[in-house]
Amino acid sequence: MGSCKGVEQEQQQQHRHNEANCVLVQGPIIVGAGPSGLATSACLKQHGVPSLVLERSVCIASLWQHRTYDRLKLHLPKHFCQLPLLGFPRNFPKYPTKHQFISYMESYASHFSIQPRFNQAVKTAEFDQVLGVWRVKTQDSEYISRWLIVATGENAEPVIPDIPGIDSFKGPVVHTNLYKSGSEFKNQRVLVIGCGNSGMEVCLDLCRYNAIPHMVVRNTVHVLPREMFGFSTFGIAMALLKWFPLKLVDKLLLLVSNFTMGNTDRLGLRRPKTGPIELKNVTGKTPVLDVGALAQIKSGKIMVMEGVKEITRNGAKFMDGQEIEVDSIILATGYKSNVPTWLKGCDFFTKDGMPKTPFPNGWKAERGLYTVGFTRRGLLGTASDAVKIAADIGEQWRTI
Ligand SMILES: Cc1cc2nc3c(=O)[nH]c(=O)nc-3n(C[C@H](O)[C@H](O)[C@H](O)COP(=O)(O)OP(=O)(O)OC[C@H]3O[C@@H](n4cnc5c(N)ncnc54)[C@H](O)[C@@H]3O)c2cc1C
Ligand SMILES: NC(=O)c1ccc[n+]([C@@H]2O[C@H](COP(=O)([O-])OP(=O)(O)OC[C@H]3O[C@@H](n4cnc5c(N)ncnc54)[C@H](OP(=O)(O)O)[C@@H]3O)[C@@H](O)[C@H]2O)c1
Repeated sequence: MGSCKGVEQEQQQQHRHNEANCVLVQGPIIVGAGPSGLATSACLKQHGVPSLVLERSVCIASLWQHRTYDRLKLHLPKHFCQLPLLGFPRNFPKYPTKHQFISYMESYASHFSIQPRFNQAVKTAEFDQVLGVWRVKTQDSEYISRWLIVATGENAEPVIPDIPGIDSFKGPVVHTNLYKSGSEFKNQRVLVIGCGNSGMEVCLDLCRYNAIPHMVVRNTVHVLPREMFGFSTFGIAMALLKWFPLKLVDKLLLLVSNFTMGNTDRLGLRRPKTGPIELKNVTGKTPVLDVGALAQIKSGKIMVMEGVKEITRNGAKFMDGQEIEVDSIILATGYKSNVPTWLKGCDFFTKDGMPKTPFPNGWKAERGLYTVGFTRRGLLGTASDAVKIAADIGEQWRTI
């Protein structure tokens, strides 16, 4: 193992040893240079605390840059998605495109002079009981600090379900994290498995390219309009929750949704018994905010199918006995955290890689361990965590 030295000195030394480098980090180590890692680094800086951000990819916000489709737009208004200390540019629309969001992330990192170390995939992180420090190992280095901040995201890895027969399918099978545009599926019959926001939006995109999407809906789902009376549904819900109990707010949202969208059950999109916000709070399941897919379902351009029984060489068989032929399959089956694969000897996380302590207290563990962006509350949750973590570490930093 190489010698320990300060991170700045180590950064200046560009040459790489074959043996692993050991870097003693001034301030916390942040794993992940997505919005959560960047927001926390910026807030720490405001408290005078330096940090080192480690990122497995070659750029910041890699989920947004490499693993999202072209037509993606934020589905919450921009003021609910901005990071602490620096908001979106004023000239951005209410719902910025993914390219605008990436440009905001880049200006954010450059404004706070955040320079992550790229190509550093954290393989293990473990607390050293003897020295009282975190040892974080990547493929070529070991980083050591009193503080470790987990910012690898709720969506770190795609969920690839093991559906019977899927290996025998003759055409391409793609997860939405690799889907870019419907142009690759022009005029094709496509089976889209999953009906979350990704599944719905991919189906809509496919329609624009004259493809025929068959969307698998195996369960109940809440579909809400993105806006009600010209205001964002999410914003309305947030405002109502300040005054009314959750169950009443859910009832009001469903009343207006049913009034404006009609009964979605008739389209094969059965609503869960629990209301949309309560369900989100209890299970983390996000309601779909409709940006046009529902109209395509009503017009028959997107076909809703029941759960898949098995995939065949040419298509799929469904639970209700139907059988269809398709040219391609898109898995819109969601994402998962990867924390259990690299964070060792720590029982703060569930086996699914989410903090056991629920929001709003899941940001702080023990022994200098913190988590940001695991609130199931999107970028709003990230901002809240980042501010609290920075204040907490800032306090400790001042006493050292
Ligand atoms: C298609 C899509 C659209 C979305 N739209 C919205 C939206 O409109 N509004 C909203 O609030 N939320 C949205 N979300 C949720 C979104 O994930 C978060 O808002 C945001 O990206 C979370 O930021 P994060 O930094 O916590 O995680 P991420 O953006 O996932 O960043 C985590 C970073 O950690 C890195 N990493 C992971 N593992 C390691 C490792 N072992 N070592 C080193 N680095 C690692 C990753 O490469 C990544 O760069 C969307 C998600 C998806 C998938
Ligand atoms: N415009 C936007 O801002 C935007 C766009 C896309 C995504 N997002 C966000 O990104 C996050 C991820 O969304 P997502 O849609 O990718 O994932 P998701 O919300 O987790 O939805 C996954 C879907 O796949 C289904 N599924 C999983 N395994 C299946 C299987 N074996 N067979 C059939 N169906 C299966 C799930 O059904 P069950 O419910 O039955 O498990 C669910 O419908 C969410 O927070 C979402 O809000 C935002």
